[in-house]
Amino acid sequence: MDAKELHRHKKADVEGMLEAIAHRWSPRAYADRAVEMTELKLVLEAARWSASSSNGQPWRFLVGQKGDATYERIAETLVSFNRAWALSAPVLMLAFAAGKTPHGRTNHYAMFDLGQAVAQMAVQSVALGLATHAMGGFDREAAQKLIGPAEDFLPGAVIALGYAGDPESLTDVELRAHELDRRERKPLAEIALSEPGKPVLF
Ligand SMILES: Cc1cc2nc3c(=O)[nH]c(=O)nc-3n(C[C@H](O)[C@H](O)[C@H](O)COP(=O)(O)O)c2cc1C
Repeated sequence: MDAKELHRHKKADVEGMLEAIAHRWSPRAYADRAVEMTELKLVLEAARWSASSSNGQPWRFLVGQKGDATYERIAETLVSFNRAWALSAPVLMLAFAAGKTPHGRTNHYAMFDLGQAVAQMAVQSVALGLATHAMGGFDREAAQKLIGPAEDFLPGAVIALGYAGDPESLTDVELRAHELDRRERKPLAEIALSEPGKPVLF
């Protein structure tokens, strides 16, 4: 499947949905092409302008660019399954969040806010022709060491960012096949409910 076919193949088939949402997917193969600083900045601005509880903006991003020490440090936190593909991405970010409000109380919305910021980042990336892939498969203790004590900040996910590449470049046979899978979702009737167990009738 060539790049254009893959782009079409991965699209969510929902009429009227924003193109950048419909075309977002999580590649494991990345092209050998750097992300320009102007693009990286825009992607992070998209996260910055996300909504958050009390406008607390608990999100932080440790940004590693291939070749720098931060990239290596983030890569080292990844479980081997993720390390096997994620190092083809030119950017690796550790997304983390302040778990406390400025008043020292637990911020129950910190991870919700971080997730929203990462979602905006993902959509902005697609609009720029880029792609992101979030990973929960990382060593939490190792990641915690990169960001300081857990009382201050908690790791959320590692995000790969780059241009989607040729699925054939994946060395693992299963991952290569998976890269061509159609994207699947639960039916809307299962997740949009008018009462518990009752789907919204659209
Ligand atoms: C919080 C989170 C953790 C994830 N962890 C991993 C991971 O460790 N490794 C991986 O390959 N994909 C990971 N994914 C990617 C999901 O598997 C992927 O988003 C899902 O299969 C839907 O595919 P799509 O993003 O292409 O629509 C993660 C996604 C999220 C949001």
